Amino acid sequence: MSLTPVILFMALFVNPLEGTWKYNFIKEKTSVVEVCNRTTVEIVEFECNISTDEDVYWELHGGITKGRKLKVEGIGNADGGNYTCHLMNGDIVDYRVILLRNVCIPRNQEESDLDIQCEAKNCSGQFNCFWAAPKMKITKYFAEADRSGSPINCNAPVSNSSHIVVSCQDLETCAYGEEDSNIDFTVHEIYQNNYEKHSTSFMLRDITKPDPPQELHSLDGSLKWKYPNTWCNFHSFFPLIFNVHVKSKGWSEHHNDIKSTKLKLSKKGKFSFCVQARDMFYNSSWSDWTCSK
Ligand SMILES: *[C@@H]1O[C@H](CO)[C@@H](O)[C@H](O)[C@H]1NC(C)=O
Ligand SMILES: *[C@@H]1O[C@H](CO)[C@@H](O)[C@H](O)[C@H]1NC(C)=O
Ligand SMILES: *[C@@H]1O[C@H](CO)[C@@H](O)[C@H](O)[C@H]1NC(C)=O
Ligand SMILES: *[C@@H]1O[C@H](CO)[C@@H](O)[C@H](O)[C@H]1NC(C)=O
Ligand SMILES: *[C@@H]1O[C@H](CO)[C@@H](O)[C@H](O)[C@H]1NC(C)=O
Ligand SMILES: *[C@@H]1O[C@H](CO)[C@@H](O)[C@H](O)[C@H]1NC(C)=O
Repeated sequence: MSLTPVILFMALFVNPLEGTWKYNFIKEKTSVVEVCNRTTVEIVEFECNISTDEDVYWELHGGITKGRKLKVEGIGNADGGNYTCHLMNGDIVDYRVILLRNVCIPRNQEESDLDIQCEAKNCSGQFNCFWAAPKMKITKYFAEADRSGSPINCNAPVSNSSHIVVSCQDLETCAYGEEDSNIDFTVHEIYQNNYEKHSTSFMLRDITKPDPPQELHSLDGSLKWKYPNTWCNFHSFFPLIFNVHVKSKGWSEHHNDIKSTKLKLSKKGKFSFCVQARDMFYNSSWSDWTCSK
């Protein structure tokens, strides 16, 4: 059986807003080699980027190969890493990184499927994608997004205590009505010398989840609240609907799909109530609930 080497040279989108060093080092000097159970025979060739009259050698983990050209055969776990090209005096003049991607079984069943979730708080084209922070702190992530091949600006991933978060800005879509193709969001994951790719695809209108309404007031059976201040400013173009849950001692009632920001109850008195909001014209997510004091 003859195996065809599968060598993927990654072309990552370089984010003009965030600086390019992280992305550049992957793009310029890194190859991802697809291996099957770490035993596939693959061949990768490098050439040290230095004039032909210099004598050089390549080194990985102390193993040395003389000459400008390096041919790595039989890619297995030990062959991934940072290959450095040295002058005979030891100075490093070039390097190439090989990452391995196991295409037969996931590197680790638990971590193989990143559960990427994406949310937009309004119609501005800004959205966040996030996933659970890795158990191993050394895992690195690079994210990119595009719509039908046109790149969308995304910031470098940042981590809070529980998640890795990437915020992106789609400049093309002013209103969801014009959205006619999916956004593809891809995460490149590097763990030691292993590479994995994860992606998800969505329309902004499907991931819209408003912040909860605000400034809830209740007086004499009249309930009032306001749009969340992160929702689109033009409320008449981008209206929300609300669900309201009213409760008092031993009694409660529920009102669905209310189109205004007030509700008159048939009872008088002081009530506590909770409200959630959703895009009026599209069946996207309801906001979290918020309650009056
Ligand atoms: C890879 O390894 C898994 C588990 O050991 C095995 O089930 C699978 O058949 C292997 N795949 C190939 C193509 O060898
Ligand atoms: C090789 O080195 C030259 C000069 O330093 C540089 O301009 C060029 O981009 C390098 N090429 C690669 C593939 O690294
Ligand atoms: C590989 O080694 C070179 C030279 O030491 C270094 O500049 C580069 O950052 C290393 N890259 C990685 C991914 O470790
Ligand atoms: C971390 O970010 C995620 C996604 O935005 C969010 O759901 C979570 O509440 C954040 N956690 C903290 C501690 O800020
Ligand atoms: C839209 O939501 C983003 C957060 O995703 C927020 O930063 C921005 O201010 C919001 N836009 C408006 C008009 O409030
Ligand atoms: C709206 O979305 C919810 C949750 O995804 C679903 O259960 C419901 O059937 C949808 N309603 C319509 C009218 O599409």
